[in-house]
Amino acid sequence: MLTFDYSNALTFLSEREIGQMEPQILTAHRLLTERNGPGSDFLGWLDLAAKHDKSEAERIQRAARRIREQSDVLVVIGIGGSYLGARAAIEMLTPAYPPAEKPGEKGWPQIVFCGHHLSASHMADLTAWLAGREVSLNVISKSGTTTEPAIAFRVLRAFMEQKYGKQEAGTRIYVTTDRSRGALRALSDAEGYETFVVPDDVGGRYSVLTPVGLLPIAAAGIDIQRMASGAADCAARCGREALADNPAYQYAAVRNLLLRRGYGVEILANYEPSLHSLGEWWKQLFGESEGKDGKGIFPAAVDNTTDLHSMGQYIQDGNRFLFETVLDVRQPRIDFEVPAAPEAGDGLDFLAGRSLHDINRTAMAGTILAHVDGGVPNLRVELPVLTPEAFGQAVFFFETACAASGYLAGVNPFDQPGVEAYKQNMFALLGKPGYEARRAELEKRLRG
Ligand code: PA5
Repeated sequence: MLTFDYSNALTFLSEREIGQMEPQILTAHRLLTERNGPGSDFLGWLDLAAKHDKSEAERIQRAARRIREQSDVLVVIGIGGSYLGARAAIEMLTPAYPPAEKPGEKGWPQIVFCGHHLSASHMADLTAWLAGREVSLNVISKSGTTTEPAIAFRVLRAFMEQKYGKQEAGTRIYVTTDRSRGALRALSDAEGYETFVVPDDVGGRYSVLTPVGLLPIAAAGIDIQRMASGAADCAARCGREALADNPAYQYAAVRNLLLRRGYGVEILANYEPSLHSLGEWWKQLFGESEGKDGKGIFPAAVDNTTDLHSMGQYIQDGNRFLFETVLDVRQPRIDFEVPAAPEAGDGLDFLAGRSLHDINRTAMAGTILAHVDGGVPNLRVELPVLTPEAFGQAVFFFETACAASGYLAGVNPFDQPGVEAYKQNMFALLGKPGYEARRAELEKRLRG
């Protein structure tokens, strides 16, 4: 079971101060459970762990099986909350180097992601690479009009129709979108694509446990039932009212206290490369939920020990406004022993025969103490082992903490008004009808 430990922040904060957060936590708890706080129309994620829709889960599994039978590659098209959760789960729970398939044998589609940028070079590389492979698409967009995935879908739909013909392409395109509105809904109805629903009351960054995340995750061969049961276990603990009993509320309370002390940047540190995308998902969750109205902790992430050789200098010794949350994985999926090599001359033979995972966790323990000594408060989230259950737990823990933390900071954790500004400028500069005045003004500024 996931645990949360703030003992290495106690040089910077006292237990008494943390305890004094109880009334504020209670207010946040009531806003969440009574569903009457800002953004309460988007609290559907709270029910996802408990409310299991069996027939929808079976439909997802059937589609996932078909994708596995039909495809070498599943291309997942989406941006932000429409792809980061699936990417985090798949990266965390599948081998870094998947076993090579025998020619003509399906069952392990490679999952690749697209539609989260506007790079022409990347699109050209992707379509060239897909040419010799059996392909399925899952386009995920609640609105159906987000520029990046909409352009990627245009390109890849045309690619699929050219490769397979319109009819077969239609059996390889899966659409996850709004129940009744939006461009993708209308197109899917017209073309007969199989569709899955993004629930109305779940925002993108809280949607990994809906079909948004579940279809690509199931297609990758991950047991989504086990993921849901992990989320349900965590929901039971993260739903408790008392601060002392609720790890998510402790995390929310401690990070808000640190912010009030001037620690405005939080770094999520992992020591497992397979957790890189969990860090990307976490950055969106907290950044988009809290960064508004001139408030919020800036979420950053590092991959260790890699980044100890780059960002480590700053974290140890730079401007003191950082705190760190470490993802600590207790057991590896498989351990590895360091070989003896007295002739290597690297001074490391004292490690011969030692567990590589143990060395990794020892590096982590030493780094935590060094950073604390350097003035960086440290929080630790421990995951026993990287399983589907642990992924479900981590999702529910961070989502609950983020919602409570946003309420503690006095913001609506479920909207994202700031993401519109770049879109308005982009559309104006691209000549979208209706944006003429803005275009003229921006072009004048760009000309200097
Ligand atoms: O969290 C969010 O709401 C956003 O990141 C959205 O998921 C993202 O902008 C994609 O939107 P859409 O699914 O409408 O294409």
